[in-house]
Amino acid sequence: MPTVHVGPIQIDTPTFLAPMAAVTDLPFRTVCEEHGAGFTITEFLSAHALSQGAKKAVEKLAPSLGGRKFGVQIFGREIGVMARAAEMAVSAGASLVDINMGCPAKRVVAGECGSALMKEPQLAQEIVRAVRHAVPRDVPVTVKHRAGWDERHLNAPEFAQALVEAGASLITVHGRTRTQGFSGTCDLGILRRVRDAVPRHVPVVGNGDVVSMEGYLRMREVTGCDAVMIGRGAMGNPFLFRSIRAVEQGERDPGPPTLRERVGAFERHVELILSHGPSSRHHVELRKACAWYSRGLHGGSALRQKVFSLCDPAAIVEEARSFFAEQAKRGQGQDARAPLSEAA
Ligand SMILES: Cc1cc2nc3c(=O)[nH]c(=O)nc-3n(C[C@H](O)[C@H](O)[C@H](O)COP(=O)(O)O)c2cc1C
Repeated sequence: MPTVHVGPIQIDTPTFLAPMAAVTDLPFRTVCEEHGAGFTITEFLSAHALSQGAKKAVEKLAPSLGGRKFGVQIFGREIGVMARAAEMAVSAGASLVDINMGCPAKRVVAGECGSALMKEPQLAQEIVRAVRHAVPRDVPVTVKHRAGWDERHLNAPEFAQALVEAGASLITVHGRTRTQGFSGTCDLGILRRVRDAVPRHVPVVGNGDVVSMEGYLRMREVTGCDAVMIGRGAMGNPFLFRSIRAVEQGERDPGPPTLRERVGAFERHVELILSHGPSSRHHVELRKACAWYSRGLHGGSALRQKVFSLCDPAAIVEEARSFFAEQAKRGQGQDARAPLSEAA
């Protein structure tokens, strides 16, 4: 198995769950870890909000369960504030601090944070240096950025190199520009150029559009990246991590989940939402879980419509359980496999 080393952290399966705002909460991170994701990182947290002690932000510094190592992602542009937020992340148990220099969202870019920092490589370096100094030596500081600001400024290779000089121990690149947002395709060529530009001992993580085993293998092969970060492709499909882990261990790809496995993941996700998620958001998170795990199954869209009209957590779970029971009766049984990507 190709192990990734980041400072003292050893990541056995070369996969990362992507940080995603309002998605990569503790329940989802846990489900992915339990299915074989190599490493998970929180959604981006405002360094300013953390340093002010804002409850909503501080609550999201949630350590992975079972003592598993995890990362916290922070964003901002004020050096002292970033350093303070990084210290808070480490105090909360983070083994790694990731700095967001890739977010394309208007409100983030308007504050000249996220991907806007790709236009200010010197400041970006200063931020990395300050965060590096703020946290203990055995806590790696990493950066996630994009291919560049727009197609005329594809500076990811030089930018990554500069960040490594400033102390970054791992670089993740989403192969799109800021102006692309999430449209168009991910540029694997620029990821290859980043891998070539950065010293060999610094892992480069490729990110963008990986939703299948084929996509994972292609990303590894074409870019030479050391690991792959998966975001949207993992929503409701933690089984992708399981497949990759199996293949990397030289085993057969177990393929898409059986109905029993899908229901198992759903039930585990529900349990984690109810035990770890804030109660004010239970219904929202449960609806999302219903939508994710019913994808590709007959009648899935009717279930989604139904649960989005319900607010009682118990009623939402009940609705999903009868849906899954109905699926089992439809003749295919608990051991039938259905791809998670099909629309229903
Ligand atoms: C809903 C959503 C929220 C996101 N939030 C973050 C974030 O907090 N930090 C970050 O670095 N990237 C964030 N991203 C970008 C993802 O981490 C990732 O770079 C992007 O989705 C491309 O990977 P994918 O094609 O595997 O999804 C977000 C993406 C989505 C879809």
